[in-house]
Order: sequence, then C-alpha cells, then structure tokens
Amino acid sequence: MLVIEGRAYLEGQLESVALGIEDGTIVAIKKTLRGDETYRFGDAILLPGGIDVHVHFREPGKTHKEDFASGTESAAVGGVTTVVDMPNTRPPVTKGDVLREKLRVVSRHANVDFGLYGAPASAADVKSLADAIAYKVYLAETTDAPLIRDDAALADLLAGVASTKTYMSVHAEDPSRFQSLPAKKLEDYHRARPPEAERSAIETVGRLRGEARVHIAHVTTAEAVKARPAGATCEVTPHHLLLSTASPIGARGKVNPPLRPIAERENLWREVVAGSVDMFASDHAPHTLDEKSVPFDEAPAGVPGVATTFPVLFRYVRRDVLPLPQFVAMFSENPAKLLRVNKGTLAVGRDADLIVVDPRRIEKMTARRCRYKCGWTPFEGAESTFPFATFVRGQLVSQEGELVTESAGRLITPSEL
Ligand code: DOR
Ligand code: ZN
Repeated sequence: MLVIEGRAYLEGQLESVALGIEDGTIVAIKKTLRGDETYRFGDAILLPGGIDVHVHFREPGKTHKEDFASGTESAAVGGVTTVVDMPNTRPPVTKGDVLREKLRVVSRHANVDFGLYGAPASAADVKSLADAIAYKVYLAETTDAPLIRDDAALADLLAGVASTKTYMSVHAEDPSRFQSLPAKKLEDYHRARPPEAERSAIETVGRLRGEARVHIAHVTTAEAVKARPAGATCEVTPHHLLLSTASPIGARGKVNPPLRPIAERENLWREVVAGSVDMFASDHAPHTLDEKSVPFDEAPAGVPGVATTFPVLFRYVRRDVLPLPQFVAMFSENPAKLLRVNKGTLAVGRDADLIVVDPRRIEKMTARRCRYKCGWTPFEGAESTFPFATFVRGQLVSQEGELVTESAGRLITPSEL
C-alpha cells in the first residue's frame, strides 16, 4: 500500500490524515497508516486534483501550438489531473472513426487522465461517437468544427444526446446578434460579439433541449448565468473572471466569447460567489505568440489556461472570497459529477487524484512556470500558488513544477455513481 500523509480536504474540512492507496484507488483514510511507501507532507494541504472539462490540446492537426504531451504536462504542473479535450482538432471529431484514431494518437502520451468530446452534426453522428465522454456544439463559427446553423439541426442533435447518458456542452453565441464592426481592440470585439448574443443562444438551447443534459460553456455575464435552462450546468473561465476589455494585452486577449468590461466581470464574480456557477474550466486554447502578433482583427481567438486555473484562483480562497469548500466543488467535485467519473473527492473508493499545496508559497506567474508550448500566458505576473506535487491515481506525476512520470494518463470512463 502507498500512503500519503497531509492535511486532507475531507467532507468539507481539512484533517491531518494518512490516505492509503492501492492500484490507484483510495482504500483507507486513517489517522496513521503503515505502507510500503510513504509520502509525508506534514501540514501541507491535500486537495482533490482539478478536472478541466474544456481544453483544446490541438492534437492531431495543430501540434505546433500544443499536443497531448505538452498540454497534459502543463495540466499536471497546474494541479489538473483530468482534462476533457475539445473536438475542433484536425480532422474535426464528427464521427466514431475520427474519434478512435484521435484516441490512438493522443493516448500514447497523456500525462494526466483525459476524455474526448465528439462534435456530431446530427443525431446519427451522436450514435457513431459513442466512445466520446460527452458532446460539444458550436452555435457560432469556430475553426475546425461543424457549425449548427438552425433550430431544426440543433433540436435533432439534442434529441440524439437525450438518448445517451452524457451531456452536450454548448458554445452559446448566436451569430444573428453579432454586429459587423471593425475590431481593433478588446472593447470593439466585445461589442461585435455582445452579451446579447450569448443570452440569445442560451435561450434557444433552453427552448430546444428536450430531455438532453445541457452544459453551458464559458459564461461571460451574470445574464448568461441567469438565462441558463433549469437543471443545466455552466462553467466559467479564469480569464472571464480576471481579465476584461481594460486589460492591456491587445490581441492576446482576443477570445470567443469575448472578454467583457469591468462592470460585467464584477457581476459575473457575484454569481460565482453566490454559488450559481457550477465549475471552473480553462477553455485552454493556445496559439503561438507569432500567430497572436498580427493586427487585432486577423489574430486567432483563444488564450492558454490549463495550468493557471488553480494558481491564479487559489488566491481568492486565501483571501476568503471563495470558501475552500466552494472552490473544491468548482475545481473538482462538480466537474466529476458532470462527467459521472469516480474522481473529484478524497474518499475511500475514489481514484487517488490529488494535489499538494502549501498556501504560504506565493510566486509571480510566468509562462515558463506553466511549461507552455505556446510560450505565453495572459496572467503573466499574477500572484500565484502552484501545487508542489500532483498525483494521478496514486502516481506522482509532477513535483516542484517538473514532470516526473510520463504517460501516466488514461482515458476516463463514466461510472455508475
Ligand atoms: O476563443 C476561442 N478559441 N473560442 C473557441 O470557441 C475556440 C477556441 C480555439 O479552439 O482556439
Ligand atoms: Zn473552447
């Protein structure tokens, strides 16, 4: 038995305990345990590893921006032990054979556990994509994903998803509400793809969803949170919480849906603090600095973020803006529930995915610290706390910012929890 000692987050509280782990599963939690191998972390905090249900790791097709090895290394360093990769890789994951080929390619070098989204264009595609952990639909144009253009097509897709156990993640922007304005800066981009477009798309999904489980990706405003259909979950990104149209980062901050003005951002924070937003997700969408260093209107949309969710948001736990139980719910527990995987909680019978944190360690954020292939982060210089060790199913995957075990990640499968 492997034993990990520390102050573990158990049922809402920190308790000094020993976690006993066998075959990657937590099998015992006691005051003390004797094992074959023991990690003693003293008064450092043990938290469930993060589950990021929204990353773009660009493999296959655009591996100069990111690939599964680099993306999952950054995930591990940032305390994320499970990722779910979006289907707008090349070719787009619209059918079962594409999904299986992607799985074959990426599973060779995943450093944390992972699932893959499918992007069906019809209810028939939903069936073909049975190996996907969940589905994604883009209601506005994005590169390399089918665009669902009308209500009938969306209703058909949602009916397909309703006959599965999993959910549809929705990129909710209604292009009929976009303004054709020249976009030279973040403020223009916000006006061109206004909050109105987001709210309208969410309302459409609410109208058409039938029995489908629906998850709204990257909400940017309080109105979007309020507009979500009853029972639907939603995620918020750190960039929509921490950056705004006033951030001095130009095209680097260009992202879909756009960054919003400070007042909108503050309202969004209020929804988070009130407990109305189910989870954090990074929408890690890396592009190289060269690709971003062009005139604003030509720059690709997307920012990296898989490594920074924990480091930049843990500060709000330290400052009592977010109580630790709420943070853990949003970082780990609620995504595990959404995916129906046996993860996200430190409890007997669960996967031993955990991170070790010393809240006294505070440093300035850098792209190098995130080990980003794309070489930049929009949070450069931000006050950060990185976990100093990350375990995936009991294996020490990263320590002190370095990957120490390669290719430990496995495909996640839903449990009957
Ligand atoms: O900004 C974005 N970038 N939004 C998306 O929907 C896609 C993503 C990407 O893949 O680059
Ligand atoms: Zn995305």
